[in-house]
Amino acid sequence: MIKDKLHRQFEYLRISVTDKCNYRCIYCMPKDIFGSKHKFLQKNELLTYEEIIEVAKTLKPFGLKKIRLTGGEPLLRKNLEALVGGLKKDAEIEKVMITTNGSLLTKQKIISLKNNGLDSVTLSLDASSQKIGNIMNPINSNHALVSEAIDNVISVFNEIKINMVVIKGINDGEIIPMLDKFLDKNIELRFIEYMDVGESNNWLLGNVFTSKETIALINKHYCLTKLTDSIDSTSTKWTINDHALNIAFISSISKPFCSECNRGRLSANGNFYTCLFSNKPYSFSKYFKNKDGALSFNDYFTKIWSNRDDQYSQLRFISKLDKSKRNKVEMSYIGG
Ligand code: GTP
Ligand code: 5AD
Ligand code: SF4
Ligand code: SF4
Repeated sequence: MIKDKLHRQFEYLRISVTDKCNYRCIYCMPKDIFGSKHKFLQKNELLTYEEIIEVAKTLKPFGLKKIRLTGGEPLLRKNLEALVGGLKKDAEIEKVMITTNGSLLTKQKIISLKNNGLDSVTLSLDASSQKIGNIMNPINSNHALVSEAIDNVISVFNEIKINMVVIKGINDGEIIPMLDKFLDKNIELRFIEYMDVGESNNWLLGNVFTSKETIALINKHYCLTKLTDSIDSTSTKWTINDHALNIAFISSISKPFCSECNRGRLSANGNFYTCLFSNKPYSFSKYFKNKDGALSFNDYFTKIWSNRDDQYSQLRFISKLDKSKRNKVEMSYIGG
């Protein structure tokens, strides 16, 4: 076990397995910026599955219990089930999960991921209607296909989490239709406040549809009951009376959760970050790609985590951070 400067234990690693995505969500990879001229990582820069499994094995004695595979779109990496299998069986990670846009999630893929030990699936979907879906993501959006993937995940895993990023004036009108659509399914629908990650989405505070606004809207249509949240949870959870659907709120803007943040992030090319909003990479690849016996990874990681004092969301509106000079890394690179 290892604790940082704010007494937060390291337990959770989010790994971006690729910075590429077949979608162009306006809040994550706006299509004008992530166009044909954008330079994605080269194949030879990516950590191999063997290297990622090695990282997980090495971090386990530090307290690592959960890994979430993200991207970009993680299913663009071939044979992702092999990585899942290695993380579960070789590295013996308690929970291995994935966050995906669902577009490549065939029934066969879902079964194969489950057979290799995947514990749960989270899928991103920002609208019930194809029309608003096309505004949130103007490329390759196919709601019929993703709806089928959701049903298939439920049939194999018995449940699924769905992430909906809500942007004021764009898809807040989809909140109630999303509830209506999923009311009687074994789903946790999570409303995410639009965040100022990266430098390309032109985020403005005025675009955030807060969790408070979402709850007020839902209360006009449905009766909610609060559930108890686990201590390290990023979300607050509610049930909808008499229905299978649960809802949750991830309120990084209005109610930050930095004080319990137990997570690190690993980019596809092996850079470790101590915060979603950090612009300071720690190169793991120099240990895992070009093995050099002179370097002690254990000392290196102990230093990184014990010096960690990030709490960007907590300081967002009060700090002296010079935002113009920060150059934050993109969500698709660092892993949502
Ligand atoms: P579990 O807690 O394991 O369910 O996963 P999660 O909710 O962290 O994972 P998911 O990939 O579904 O993330 C959902 C959203 O939560 C992300 O899009 C972010 O908006 C937000 N989020 C996740 N981790 C962090 C974090 O460390 N800091 C901040 N500020 N937001 C986060
Ligand atoms: N604000 C909030 N959530 C975001 N995601 C990506 N970019 C942002 C942003 N700017 C979410 C996606 C996905 C998760 C991994 O990150 O919706 O579900
Ligand atoms: Fe792709 Fe997910 Fe980013 Fe959308 S939010 S562009 S699906 S990585
Ligand atoms: Fe953790 Fe940074 Fe997110 Fe705060 S802003 S919860 S420290 S990743």
